[in-house]
Amino acid sequence: MSIEQLAETAQAMVAPGKGIIAIDESTSTIGKRFDGVGIPNNEENRRAYRELLLTTPGLSDHISGAILFDETIRQSTKAGVPFAKYMAEQGILPGIKVDKGTHALAGFPGELVTEGLDGLRSRLEEYYKLGARFAKWRAVITIGEDMPSGTCIDVNAHALARYAALCQEQGLVPMVEPEVLMDGDHDIETCYEVTEVTLRGLFDALYSQNVMLEGTILKASMVLPGKDSDERADIDEVAEATLMCLKSSVPAILPGIVFLSGGQSDERSTAHLDAMNRLGPNPWPLSFSYGRAMQQAALKLWSQDLVNNVGKAQETVLARARDNGLAAQGKWKK
Ligand code: 13P
Repeated sequence: MSIEQLAETAQAMVAPGKGIIAIDESTSTIGKRFDGVGIPNNEENRRAYRELLLTTPGLSDHISGAILFDETIRQSTKAGVPFAKYMAEQGILPGIKVDKGTHALAGFPGELVTEGLDGLRSRLEEYYKLGARFAKWRAVITIGEDMPSGTCIDVNAHALARYAALCQEQGLVPMVEPEVLMDGDHDIETCYEVTEVTLRGLFDALYSQNVMLEGTILKASMVLPGKDSDERADIDEVAEATLMCLKSSVPAILPGIVFLSGGQSDERSTAHLDAMNRLGPNPWPLSFSYGRAMQQAALKLWSQDLVNNVGKAQETVLARARDNGLAAQGKWKK
């Protein structure tokens, strides 16, 4: 796979006015979301729900790609069309979550390391054959007393870089996601400092492992006060802090940055993205790769009637995609 092809895919992921929908919840994570609204977590419900999301009429006007879970990339629409094929026909790039989740980091109580490197090369080869054109790996950085440790940042950056190099070897664009969690009562300055040191560590590791940045997408968390903090940051403060942090740590050659929503409300996640784009021009396109902030309204509606509410739920997915697509251009109006 040439770097030109990887760069082309990466640029398509952040095409003007478009972003990513993350629907790659593991079986246990989607179980928690289903539980919250009383939907039984079985394979057919998971398939039907992902079909609802992916077949939303008009989705590809605002959505460039969707991140799937292993089970989902092997599933099909009710009519028997494999999801990845259906997406490609709509002009939506199939993506795949390839990490195997977070585990306790030995020797560092309270901190996490993401696993999944063993056997990754052959899994990527298979995912490419199944139609995937980009992949996601999520590392988690926790803020707390004496946390994060330098070791936690280093081991996660090292794993992200190993995954990214393997992705590029196998023709997939790596979406590297070092999520600094919102959990905790820390202030926005602490989040800024942790995010900056995390991103600098990540780009050091990518550089030393020969990852081609032209064919890489960063999935970033925004710079925010912790969710248990008394501090309330307004929209412009978050936008300015996040932009400054990214400019101080992310090379300009990167084709794009997409954000996770991380527990922010739908409206806040859109408003923050919009404000960052209004503050531009920025060195990279800034767009979204939201999970909860794209889906939560739709899931609630669907849960009220799994047969008759499909259309209504899809309307909310489209509305969220449209709003976030506008925010990716700094053109959203509340
Ligand atoms: P949220 O937008 O719900 O944080 O999910 C995005 C994601 O894919 C996290 O890995």
